[in-house]
Amino acid sequence: MIGVYDSGFGGLGVLRHLRTALPKRDFCYLGDSGRAPYGGRDPHTLLDFGEQCVEQLFDEGCRVVVVACNTMSCIALRHLQQRYAGPGSDKRVLGVTIPGAEAAVRASRGHIGVIATARTVASGTYVEEIRKLGPHRVTQRATALLAPIVEEGWEDTDVARLAVKRYLDELLADGTIDTLLLGCTHYPMLEPAIAAAAPGLTLVDPAPYLAEQLVAWLVRHPAFDHEGAGVLRVLCTGDPLAFARHGARFLGEPLPVVVHVGEHTHAPLGQIVR
Ligand code: DGL
Repeated sequence: MIGVYDSGFGGLGVLRHLRTALPKRDFCYLGDSGRAPYGGRDPHTLLDFGEQCVEQLFDEGCRVVVVACNTMSCIALRHLQQRYAGPGSDKRVLGVTIPGAEAAVRASRGHIGVIATARTVASGTYVEEIRKLGPHRVTQRATALLAPIVEEGWEDTDVARLAVKRYLDELLADGTIDTLLLGCTHYPMLEPAIAAAAPGLTLVDPAPYLAEQLVAWLVRHPAFDHEGAGVLRVLCTGDPLAFARHGARFLGEPLPVVVHVGEHTHAPLGQIVR
C-alpha cells in the first residue's frame, strides 16, 4: 500500500493521477484537514506535523509515502527522508518538488513563474530545484488567497477570477514568463481562471509527471510495494463528512468512507489549578 499525504483534500487531485497511472496498487491517503491550511505555518510546526502524518501512514502499513503537499515537500522532505528513509531503512518518503521542477523545465522556453503558498515561496525550494536543472529564470509569487478560495468551492466564481487576475497581472507584468508552475495542490482546480487571465501561458501541474515518476520508481524499487486490488483507504484529521464532500471534487469520484484520525498534540490540554 502506498501512502499519500497532504495538508487536506487538495492532494486527492494528485492521488487521482497516481491511481490512474497505477490502477492495481492500493493507496492510503491522509489529509491533515484538521490543521490545514499549511501554507502560512512556521517551519518547525510543519516538521512536527510532517513527522506525525508520515508515521501514521507507516503505522497503516505503507512503506512508501508520497508527500503530495507542495508546502510540506518544500519545507520538510529532506528532514523526513533523513529521519525515516536513511541507509538500511525499509521505508521511503518521496515528494512533489523535483517532479514539479522537472516538468516546468521541460515545458519552459526560459522563464518560469511559480505560484504557491507563502511558505513554499519563502522556502525557495522550487527556485533551487529548477536552478539545478538548467539556466531558466524563475519568478515566484505567493498567492495566499487561492487555496482558501478553492477550499470554499469557489473556483468557478468571479471571486476566483478576480483574485487570479490580480496575482497574475503583477507576476506577468514584464511579459517574459512563458510557463507557470502550479506549486500548490489546489491550483489545478483554477486552471480555467488562470488560462483566461493568462492566455498562451503553458500551465504545469506537477501531478501527472509525479505519477509517471512514481511508476518508474516502483519498477526500479519493486521491494517497496506490490500490486494489490486497487483499494483506497482515506483518513483525515478534520471532519470526515466534510472531507468526503469536498474531496470528491478533487478525486473526481466519490470517496470511500473517510476515517477520522486524531491530531497528535504534544501540548498538554486544559489548565493547571493551583
Ligand atoms: N496542500 C498545500 C500545498 O500544496 C496547499 C494548501 C495549504 O496551504 O495547506 O502547498
